[in-house]
Amino acid sequence: MNLSAAASNQLDPRLVRYFSDVREVAAQSLSEATKLRLVRELATQLVREPLVIPRAFRCAPARGYGRNLLHLDRDQHFVVIAMIWPPHSGSAAHDHGTWGVVAVAEGEVDVTNFEREDDGRDPSRARLRAACTLRATPGAVATVLPPHEDFHSVFNPSDSRTAVTIHTYGREPFDFQRVELASGAVTLGRLAYDNLR
Ligand SMILES: [Fe+2]
Repeated sequence: MNLSAAASNQLDPRLVRYFSDVREVAAQSLSEATKLRLVRELATQLVREPLVIPRAFRCAPARGYGRNLLHLDRDQHFVVIAMIWPPHSGSAAHDHGTWGVVAVAEGEVDVTNFEREDDGRDPSRARLRAACTLRATPGAVATVLPPHEDFHSVFNPSDSRTAVTIHTYGREPFDFQRVELASGAVTLGRLAYDNLR
């Protein structure tokens, strides 16, 4: 799983600076909650002004949404991903098992956070209740943090406009749990990147 140097060189210098700033935070012995707060501030600065995501990082499958690896830090265990959300695409409710920061670069997305109502003892089931949905526009930043604010979903409500969000997560590679809301069935997924296929 490697980005070509040619692709990396196309990245906005503000993004490259963001990677090194997050690296400084991730390297410190801080609680997950403190790392989340600090990375949230960095992400807020990052999307305060329009951010250009080059074509090499805007890959998406023919159906559904795309995941594009922007930066993987194996030493400090974090990853930065550009998510591409065509109109009306969206994710299932899922978790990441780590702190996460979602910053909107283009378009609008609805981010729904869920509360878990069961005790989590049955790994094949989860009972989730939607706690709140945030309509996130460019410059907005949302966060997730285990164990209570981990499950979330993302949806692009636009009829015509693709949305782009920048996600930073505190570990990689990682599996995630996907929950079918009506039945509560849990399935496991593993991150794969559309720009590295
Ligand atoms: Fe997510």
